[in-house]
Amino acid sequence: MNVLMIAPPGAGKGTQGVVIAAHFDIPHIATGDLLRDHVARGTDLGRQVRDYLDRGELVPDEVVLTMVREALEATDRRGYVIDGIPRTMDQARALYDIGVEMGSTADVALHLEVDDEELVRRLLARSSKEGRSDDTEGVIRRRLALYYEVTHPILEWYGERGILVSIDAMRPADQVGRQILTALEVVRQMVDGDPEHPRRPIDLTGLGRAFGRTD
Ligand code: AP5
Repeated sequence: MNVLMIAPPGAGKGTQGVVIAAHFDIPHIATGDLLRDHVARGTDLGRQVRDYLDRGELVPDEVVLTMVREALEATDRRGYVIDGIPRTMDQARALYDIGVEMGSTADVALHLEVDDEELVRRLLARSSKEGRSDDTEGVIRRRLALYYEVTHPILEWYGERGILVSIDAMRPADQVGRQILTALEVVRQMVDGDPEHPRRPIDLTGLGRAFGRTD
């Protein structure tokens, strides 16, 4: 099972990514966690990206794509749940190309739907416990604005590919987890019944149209 999670900050990508990984026994690759780990260890990459994270801005595409490619290569290719990427149109294209190269394009793009005020409430509640540098109200609002402007339009493209699954994630985390696993089990049966299901060649031009491009 190959799962991409695309959702706004605080929607529960990390929380549910762990649940999905455990259920399907697949690795959980979270770009935010990988970046924060570099910052905490003080690596060159960590020094390069720290300011982006603190301000809630997107790290350059090539940095996250290199990191995710390495993480995927380190797996045994039995599947994945990736949270935090793609966030831009170029990341979506590049991730698809990496998937084709490695024979592991996404089976499902999982979208978690949560109201903005609930997202802010969750992240401010987390800030008092974990103290993440980007969990201040101003930076949370910036992350949300970037999500709607740059990331949310990608969902349309996954919808056109027929692999988009949207879940109401306003309810308690355990209920959301159960609903996700039920939906993903249905997808698993479809994938098992049709091994080519998500791996047919696809037209990437629609991804440009989703962002208002006409070329
Ligand atoms: P990242 O770490 O991915 O942050 P994010 O997208 O802002 O998401 P969060 O981790 O804040 O939220 P989440 O959806 O994972 O929710 P969670 O489960 O934690 O990225 C951080 C930064 O890294 C970015 O801003 C950017 O700078 C950079 N970056 C990362 N990827 C990048 C990329 N591809 N390109 C460029 N830059 C990139 O839950 C949040 C809280 O809510 C928790 O306290 C949790 O316990 C609680 N909660 C979860 N579910 C529920 C529920 N159902 N009910 C109540 N509370 C809940």
